Amino acid sequence: MNFKTRTHTCGELRESDIDSYVVLNGWVDTRRDLGGVIFIDLRDRYGKTQIVFEPSYNIESHEIGKSLRTEFVVSIEGKVRKRPEGTENLDLSTGAIDVMVDKLIILNEAETVPFMIEDDVEANEDLRLKYRYLDLRRPKMQANMLLRHKMYKATRNYLDQKDFVEIETPILMKSTPEGARDFLVPSRMHKGKFYALPQSPQTYKQLLMVSGYDRYFQIVKCFRDEDLRADRQLEFTQIDIEMSFIDQENIFELVEGLMKKLLNDIKGYELTSPIKRLTFDDAMENYGSDKPDLRFGLEMTTLNDVFANSEFRVFKDAVTTDGNIITSLLAKGCGDYTRNQLDVLTDYVKKLGAGGLIWMRVQEDSIEAPIAKFLTEEEKTALRNKLNAETGDLIFIISGSKNKSLGYMGALRLEMARRLELIKKDAEPALLWVTDFPLFEWDEDTKRFYAMHHPFTSPRVEDVEFLNSDPGKVKARAYDLVLNGNEIAGGSIRIHDSKLQSNMFKALGISDEEASEKFGFLMNAFKYGAPPHGGIAFGFDRMAMLFAGEDSIREVIAFPKTSSGFSLMDESPSLVDDTQLKELHIKVR
Ligand code: AMO
Repeated sequence: MNFKTRTHTCGELRESDIDSYVVLNGWVDTRRDLGGVIFIDLRDRYGKTQIVFEPSYNIESHEIGKSLRTEFVVSIEGKVRKRPEGTENLDLSTGAIDVMVDKLIILNEAETVPFMIEDDVEANEDLRLKYRYLDLRRPKMQANMLLRHKMYKATRNYLDQKDFVEIETPILMKSTPEGARDFLVPSRMHKGKFYALPQSPQTYKQLLMVSGYDRYFQIVKCFRDEDLRADRQLEFTQIDIEMSFIDQENIFELVEGLMKKLLNDIKGYELTSPIKRLTFDDAMENYGSDKPDLRFGLEMTTLNDVFANSEFRVFKDAVTTDGNIITSLLAKGCGDYTRNQLDVLTDYVKKLGAGGLIWMRVQEDSIEAPIAKFLTEEEKTALRNKLNAETGDLIFIISGSKNKSLGYMGALRLEMARRLELIKKDAEPALLWVTDFPLFEWDEDTKRFYAMHHPFTSPRVEDVEFLNSDPGKVKARAYDLVLNGNEIAGGSIRIHDSKLQSNMFKALGISDEEASEKFGFLMNAFKYGAPPHGGIAFGFDRMAMLFAGEDSIREVIAFPKTSSGFSLMDESPSLVDDTQLKELHIKVR
C-alpha cells in the first residue's frame, strides 16, 4: 500500500489553492452518490474537505470510490477546483473548493460504527465510553483534548517563566492517609507489603522544599479511591505547586497570574485582579457553601438578631442554643409560588437532611405563612426591614445547627437560581478565594477531629495556642480557589516545624508511634533545616471542564471511568490469573 504523505490537512485548503495538486489522508465522514458522481467528505482532526469522484475525470478511482463507506481510511491525490457556482458550503472552512480525484487508495476498511461520528451524537454515555476511541474522533471531543493541550502548554510556559522547576515524584509510594482512601499496590518482592498510589504528591513536594527546590511544579496524576460524581474521578490530574520563603499573598499573586494567562489564552477573557476573597465563615453565612457560585447574588441573611426574643419555639431554640442559627433567603417576586411548588422545595431540603423549610409570602401589609401566628408585629416588621422584602416576595427560613442549616439553605439558593434562571450561559467567570478555613472538622460518627485539608496545614499563628485545648476554634492558613461554584484549587501554608507538626498529629488523635510510622520521613526531614513553605494544587480536569463549558469531567478526559469506577472500554477492573496473585502473595477471599 504505497500512500503518500499528505500535502495538506483536511481543514486547510482555500480558494487560493485552486489548481494545486494535493494529497489528503483521512476518514470518510459521509458519502453521497449523485447520479454517477460520488462525493465524500474526508475528515481528520483539522476539518473536512469535499472530494469528488467523477467517471469522466478518472474512471479508475471512480470505480474504487463506489466501495467507500463511512469511516474507511483513505488516501487521495487530486486537483483542487473551485466548487461550481451555488454549491459552496459556507459552514465549512474548506467550503469554497473541492478536490477532483486522480488516485484513491483505501488504507483500511471499517465496520458499521455503533454511532455516527458527529457532535450531536444520540448515543448514550455508556456506548460512547465503550467505543471511546470512536467518541474521541468527534470534533467536540477533539476540541476538548486540544483545549487540555493548550492548558498544559500555557501552564508550563507561565511557570517556567517564573523559575519553577517541573520534578516528577513517585507513583508507588508509602500509604500516608490524606483524607480519601488509598489505592494499594501489592509488592512482589516484599511479601505482605503494599505501595500506595499518591492521593497527591503532597509529602514529596514538601520534601523538595527541604531539598532547596524553592519553586516546584508538576502536572501530575493523583489517585483517590472515593465515590465518584460528575466532578470526580478515581484518577485525575493536578497542577501541583509548592514554594519556599513565601506567605499566602505570594501564592495568591502567582495563581492570579496563572488564571489571567489561562483565561486569556483559552477563553480570550481579560481577568481583572485582585480576585475577590471571602473567609470561610462569610462564605458559609452568605452563600451556604465553601465554594459559592458568585455568578448571581441571592445572598442569605442571618436572622438571629431579628428573632432574639422570639416566643416561637423553633426560633427560640435556635437563638438560645450555642452554635445554632436562623438563616433566610429572599426570593424576589416568588410570592405567587403555589402550595405545591413550596412542598417540592420543602422536600428538596428535607432530602438533604433539613428538619423542614419555613416559608412566608410577603403581602401588602401582612405576612402570610403557616407560622405567622407565632410572630409579633414587631418581628414581622423587623424581618421585612432586615431583608428589604417587598410585596410579592417570598421568604425562606431554616434554623438549627449552624453549618448544616447554612448548607441546606445554600443548596436551596442554588436550586432557586436554577428555577429563576439566574445563571446565564454567557455569564462572566466568577473567581473567588475562600480563606481562613477551620483547621479541623468534627466527625459525629467517629467522634473525633479530622484535618479539613490535610495534616500538614499550618494553623493561623494567633490560633496555635488552642491547638490542643480548643481545636474547633483554630483556623488554618488554607485557601481554596473557586470558579463558578466549583472548587478548582486548594492549598495552604504548611507546618515546617517538627514540634508543631507533632502537636498537630496529637490534636488529630494520631499517637507518636503512628505519626512516626506513617510520617516519620517528613518529620525527620524537618529536623534538617526546613524552609517556611506553602503551595496549592489545581484540579486540572475540573478547570478544563469549566473552560470547555461541559457539565462532567468525563468530557475532558480521554479515557475516563464511569461513575461506578469501571472502564467500559477495556473492562477494568478485571479478574487476574491465580499465578499473578500467587506471585503477589495474595489470596482473594
Ligand atoms: P485537594 O485535595 O484540595 O488538595 O485537591 C486539589 C484539587 O484537586 C481537585 N480534585 C479532584 N478532581 C477530580 N477528581 C477528584 N477525585 C478530585 N479530588 C480533588 C479539586 C481540588 O481543589 N495536596 C493538596 C494540595 C495542596 O495543599 O497543595 C491537595 O491535593 O479541584
